[in-house]
Amino acid sequence: MERTKMLPAVEKFVAEMRAACAAGLEGEARWRRCGELLAGLLGDPELKAHARNWPVGGYDGRKVDNLLFYEDPDYGFALNGLIKNPGGRAMIHDHGPSWTVYGLLEGEERIVRFEVATDEDGTRRLEETMSIECGPGDVDIVPPHEIHSEFAGDRKTVAFIVRSQRTGTFRQKGYENGVDGEPIPGPNQVPYALG
Ligand SMILES: [Fe+2]
Repeated sequence: MERTKMLPAVEKFVAEMRAACAAGLEGEARWRRCGELLAGLLGDPELKAHARNWPVGGYDGRKVDNLLFYEDPDYGFALNGLIKNPGGRAMIHDHGPSWTVYGLLEGEERIVRFEVATDEDGTRRLEETMSIECGPGDVDIVPPHEIHSEFAGDRKTVAFIVRSQRTGTFRQKGYENGVDGEPIPGPNQVPYALG
């Protein structure tokens, strides 16, 4: 069955991602290419206008929702949207073995990476190793197993996310309750028409 077409710029993005996969780009090279393509897509006025009506998900201490726009039938990559209220945040987490290319369409976020550090007395704790301020058009590539979080500024934020595989198809951990992490289900995947 023919699937429903998405916005033209998103269809072009999917076609170019599929071409990169078909050409044999693997691992980091594939997701760097994805980052270039996503940076272009984030400037599309039609996508930005569409995104103004996307419903808020974000972390409320219990659950988070991702809009699910697309899952590629051959290469498995998935397109998600994530909207945070002003001051909203993501729990501290990783994405297990998957790659993520995270782009902002609207608003400002502080994106933070963490590593487990050991104090002299042997206490292990999460330490911020990197913090970057991002705005519309910025792209962050998150390799497998990197511990991270995002904090929205004083405006609503809208992110467009490309994942190497759909959340729910791999194991990932949350780190709100300890440095070793605990399995988390990952964001709910809420199908949403992008057209
Ligand atoms: Fe994440």
